[in-house]
Amino acid sequence: QTVGNDPGRVACAELSSWVNAMWLPAKCAAAGRGVWASRLCVLRRSGSNTAAFMPEAAGFGGVSGRAALQDFSLSDGDSFWAAAARHRLSWSRPFRTVRDCDLSRGRIKWFEDGELNVSVNCLDRHVHTCPERVALIWERDERGSEVRYTYRELLEMTCRVGNLLRRRGVKKGDCVTIYMPTCPLAVASMLACARIGAAHNVVFAGFSAEALAERIRDAQSSTVITVNQGVRGGKVTELKKTVDAAVQSCPTVQQVFVAMRTEKPVTMTARDVAMEEEMLKEDVVCEPAAMSSEDILFLLYTSGSTGKPKGLVHTQAGYLLYAALTHRYVFSYQDGDVFGCVADIGWITGHSYTVYGPLANGATTVLFESTPVYPDPGRYWDMVERLKINQFYGAPTAIRLLLRYGDQWVNKYDRSSLKTLGSVGEPINTEAWEWYHRVVGEGRCPVVDTWWQTETGGICIAPKPSEPDAEIVPGMAMRPFFGIKPVLMDAEGKVLTTNNTSGALCMAQPWPGMARTIHNDHQRFIETYFRPYPGYFFTGDGAYRSKEGYYQITGRLDDVINVSGHRIGTAEIEDVVNQCPAVAESAVIGYSHSIKGEAVYAFVVLKKDVNVPEAELSKELKSIVSEKIAKYASPDLIQFVKRLPKTRSGKIMRRVLRKVVESDLDSLGDLSTLDDPTAVQEIIQGHQELL
Ligand code: WTA
Repeated sequence: QTVGNDPGRVACAELSSWVNAMWLPAKCAAAGRGVWASRLCVLRRSGSNTAAFMPEAAGFGGVSGRAALQDFSLSDGDSFWAAAARHRLSWSRPFRTVRDCDLSRGRIKWFEDGELNVSVNCLDRHVHTCPERVALIWERDERGSEVRYTYRELLEMTCRVGNLLRRRGVKKGDCVTIYMPTCPLAVASMLACARIGAAHNVVFAGFSAEALAERIRDAQSSTVITVNQGVRGGKVTELKKTVDAAVQSCPTVQQVFVAMRTEKPVTMTARDVAMEEEMLKEDVVCEPAAMSSEDILFLLYTSGSTGKPKGLVHTQAGYLLYAALTHRYVFSYQDGDVFGCVADIGWITGHSYTVYGPLANGATTVLFESTPVYPDPGRYWDMVERLKINQFYGAPTAIRLLLRYGDQWVNKYDRSSLKTLGSVGEPINTEAWEWYHRVVGEGRCPVVDTWWQTETGGICIAPKPSEPDAEIVPGMAMRPFFGIKPVLMDAEGKVLTTNNTSGALCMAQPWPGMARTIHNDHQRFIETYFRPYPGYFFTGDGAYRSKEGYYQITGRLDDVINVSGHRIGTAEIEDVVNQCPAVAESAVIGYSHSIKGEAVYAFVVLKKDVNVPEAELSKELKSIVSEKIAKYASPDLIQFVKRLPKTRSGKIMRRVLRKVVESDLDSLGDLSTLDDPTAVQEIIQGHQELL
């Protein structure tokens, strides 16, 4: 029903009573169930009109089809997002203002005067309507030992963790660091933070003690949650020991919750809390905190081109709404589907498409703990068959790896449940795309190459949603999502208005899912994203816009590289290499790698008096980088050089290094600004010897 003259306000009387029921105890559940059921009927009705495609758009008046909806989302964003927010989220206090944004100043606020609780939106409202629906399927490392958790069970687990955190002094506004593999208790811990109003800071459990410590210190966490050991690809990792080492340099940490992933006991100190034991003492009901839309939901650290990793801040309502909406429309998710995103929860993909998006939509979401090749290269497809996965979302690096093992590992398993295949994190080359489409998807599942970033909170460019039967071009992200307005900039900072052109990819309008700041460094946030092209959000990526107006991402424009879909700043690796006493200086670049996408290449200048054999030093440097950052950041190739090519002002000319490594010597470019041009000849020769 449309209220007053505002076409964007879909204020359904039924819906608001259902929303209210969310905040009342069980006696209202029956009423809530009835309303939910009638709402589902609306969602299920199919057809090509806009209302069926996007029910909240019913009040937009005359807007029909995906393209018109897209135009509407840009020309009247307030109405579009207000309707979506009212329809998709449950509010304990309705918002009045939709947005208050000024990109030139890095100010981004959505639904600011509204209040809600993210865990209620992800759990309670589904428990009221379908408590026994499976929320999580934990695909444990040990094949065939998956465990299912219903929405009721996940809510109970979340409430116990929430109560435990509260009892142990965690308050609204605190930040809890989570260092766990992908498992149900990690999800419950994230949601428990959301329930009591604490922010979470999930650190990928492959990060070293030092990298973890840096993130704990920056986030000023007093509480850390971990497990005794992790298990991945049949290998055990000592996560608790890593936390022990990390917290030694983290004076803020007062307590560490330790859950048991394996049977193996670990040494517990006075600071440690046996998590499951303590959870048993807690009630299964936990009062949700009423959170303002713009309170912090989480920090997530990611790499930039310079300096330390930055803690990007995402807030409550806008993030959740954007994750939910993109999850539904990019993957054509339908009620009852089993959604299989294989990303680790330590990355933004795990946050938005393993946890928040699917749970906000009441989906059954898969938690994948293993690797694509354990115990054999059929693992993903065996899982698809066993769990009847409808949407599979993974990284090109795994697809490239698996295609080398041959089609038989795929064909062995029944993949008839699959409806959509997704790709994320790095460019997907045509060979991998074709194989994914033809072999994995039997040529009948659309492949959606989704472009987005930790900063964007959710998918911004993807082939879907689209008009029915619209074309999908291999290896192209193609179409902006609702409310997303990409622009390409030329070298002078002017907007490129024509098609068939390339430039720096920026966004001309804010959207609800975008990051709000960098924790403790709003200035850096402004300088990185809003200063390069005033009035626009700068993504750091370059893109090509085709004749038809489709977008294709061409790669980073800064010194960030993408190794197996993991983002890392070359400066971070150089920092670690330079700390080695034998090293005078270094320059790190990415080079193209057939499986990883990009791999790490380090040029190292040794100090004069060093006479350790190079092979030994090379080994040592590789292991130092693994220990100090993470395994994936470790250089694949190390070339020792006498000097680095530098400009007369002392700046390393990475462009030249990249060309040497790509064996593109014809386009070394202008070397006249080099301090000492003979350096390049030495490097070319050394590179050939290394290969
Ligand atoms: C790259 C991951 C090409 C891009 C969700 C971006 C992609 C960075 C794609 C963000 C894609 C992500 N095609 N490149 N479909 N998706 N990227 O923050 O360079 O870990 O800036 O977020 O990955 O990495 P992040």
